[in-house]
Amino acid sequence: MRLDVGCGAIRDGDVGMDRFPSPAASVVHDLLDVPWPFPDATFDSVVSHQVFEHLPAGGDEAGKDHLFRICDEAWRVLKPGGTLEFDVPHARGRSAFGDITHRRYFVPFAFSHLWDGSRDAWYPRKIWALEYCRVYRWMPYAWHVRTHYPRVAAVVGRLPFTHPHVIFVKLRKVATDRPSPGRDLGAGA
Ligand SMILES: C[S@@+](CC[C@H](N)C(=O)[O-])C[C@H]1O[C@@H](n2cnc3c(N)ncnc32)[C@H](O)[C@@H]1O
Repeated sequence: MRLDVGCGAIRDGDVGMDRFPSPAASVVHDLLDVPWPFPDATFDSVVSHQVFEHLPAGGDEAGKDHLFRICDEAWRVLKPGGTLEFDVPHARGRSAFGDITHRRYFVPFAFSHLWDGSRDAWYPRKIWALEYCRVYRWMPYAWHVRTHYPRVAAVVGRLPFTHPHVIFVKLRKVATDRPSPGRDLGAGA
């Protein structure tokens, strides 16, 4: 079972969730509103294509960043060993600032908080195993182009674009649920 978070008009998976109704959205729900309406350990994979850049900067009342809240929620609805895949525009690419609805701008290193538990441990969040964090210099951000028009994608992929364009991240929910690091750095120090 695959959940597409922020599915828009074309769903990648069995269940689509978006805050706007469409035939692809099996569930109309704001992903900032946690918990999502699914039991624990429901899905084998969660995907989110070109959505995280639309999230407002900031976090909840406790100061937990929205991105960490969402990734933690994906963790909850994933089975052990399940994967979270997402792609976002690269901050140095053309599309990052080319859409007035974009609220966040990313470079690959920014996501290392999600898999690197040894650094900046004051951020409370689940620690994932990293499968990959890749930068593409062209425009494979539309998963449906890659899936349904692979020849187009292959031709465009050979063109000599010079700027990073999109970041792809794949994370795995490791079998052992390491607790989120606490916020109090001083505790036990
Ligand atoms: C650029 S579109 C991408 C749509 C689709 N994933 C695709 O690749 O074609 C961004 C989508 O994220 C959804 N979205 C943005 N913020 C959201 C939120 N807080 N809750 C649910 N959906 C959200 C929007 O409604 C929109 O459908």
